[in-house]
Amino acid sequence: MPVQEALVLPSDNVLPGVRKAGALSPKRPAVETAGLADVFPYYAGFSFEWARHQLARHETELLNNGTVLDPWNGSGTTTLAAQSLGLNAIGLDLNPVANVIARLRAQDYSQVEKIKRPQAGVDVCLDDDPLAAWFAKPTIRRIRQWGKAAEDIGGPTRDLLTVSLFRAIRAATKRFEGSNPTWVKRAKELSETVSIASDELDAIIEWHIGFISSRVGSQSCPRQVSVVTADSRKMPIASDSVDVIVTSPPYLTRIDYAVAYSRELALLGIDISTDRSLRAGLMGTTLIRPQTEDIFPFGEAASQLLSLIQKHDSKASAGYYLRQTRQYLADLTSGLDEITRVCRNTATLHLVVQDSFYKDVHVPLADICIDEAAMRGWVLKNEPERFLVRRTLTSLNKAAQTYKKGDVAESVITFSRGK
Ligand SMILES: C[S@@+](CC[C@H](N)C(=O)[O-])C[C@H]1O[C@@H](n2cnc3c(N)ncnc32)[C@H](O)[C@@H]1O
Repeated sequence: MPVQEALVLPSDNVLPGVRKAGALSPKRPAVETAGLADVFPYYAGFSFEWARHQLARHETELLNNGTVLDPWNGSGTTTLAAQSLGLNAIGLDLNPVANVIARLRAQDYSQVEKIKRPQAGVDVCLDDDPLAAWFAKPTIRRIRQWGKAAEDIGGPTRDLLTVSLFRAIRAATKRFEGSNPTWVKRAKELSETVSIASDELDAIIEWHIGFISSRVGSQSCPRQVSVVTADSRKMPIASDSVDVIVTSPPYLTRIDYAVAYSRELALLGIDISTDRSLRAGLMGTTLIRPQTEDIFPFGEAASQLLSLIQKHDSKASAGYYLRQTRQYLADLTSGLDEITRVCRNTATLHLVVQDSFYKDVHVPLADICIDEAAMRGWVLKNEPERFLVRRTLTSLNKAAQTYKKGDVAESVITFSRGK
């Protein structure tokens, strides 16, 4: 199952008693074509229409040189929506794959450079190539020659070619995707690697270039957005400089973004099996980092969750899973600390989060965010809107079905600064 299909969950139902009639659901439709969202599957926090609707409400204040930020920008739905309204926007994401996609969606392609087939003799270095986890050496050589062509061209065309290579690589390695769509396997031995004749590979890549080119042609860009590879726990942004945040952090569902995008990261030269820094830095990672910093006390909802997990009788609950949850919460609250630092006193924060389950324990992520934001001086602007999610990612995973799960809510929470 393609990643996007698995993650785009139907949520047209509404939990009773909370959401006002007529509220616009944030959930991205199964195939959202707005701003090329369908050219490459990426985790959808919310739809383009929803993000645009939220930002349009702030248009007057923002048009006077205001700044929009998404600190977990993913494929750049917020930055694209801001751009479509002519607003200044910054999108941060630690995963460089996300940022290539976000840039592709936001750039001006009225002058795409013609992409030529690279010469067969172009010299490329194949030592310790991370693509060797899926491809045979001659195929890697050809992919790298295309990659070098992308670097040589530079600018928006580089991103177009890079996403074409993402698509080609993903299609050629489909059999390494297991029943869990976010866990990508690797070849155990050379005989399992994919080998494609250069001519055939060229034709596949050119097909993807043609497909994406046909889609980007008509984009108009009233403003350039800034898409930056950076950590939401340490934002490279000045204090008191942001007016509106529209964002959706990773949820507590143990999705390992680095593993899910290991093939694309390999194309970008990052081998997550040897370099663990990116994987460890992503919020929600299944890797436990050595604890080097103090974790400050959490609010009531988070503390209660930790206590329920600690007391759970299933294996490793009081060990690994407790540590993983605490690490996730520490990352979430560090992100909220940074959000608080970079926002002006008049700022608004729109957050989309989804509750989940740890075994049979409800993970009330919306309540946790409300508590933690309140501790940092944010006040609820109105009652959160809650939308029913019928199929959770865990329900796709057989091992996770031992415990009965209820429906979970996806919540839209809007805060203003309490000062
Ligand atoms: C739910 S997705 C956001 C989806 C996005 N709203 C969209 O529409 O595509 C969360 C994003 O957070 C990113 N992320 C995880 N840990 C991060 C960190 N420490 N700093 C910045 N981004 C991070 C992930 O790479 C992922 O792209």
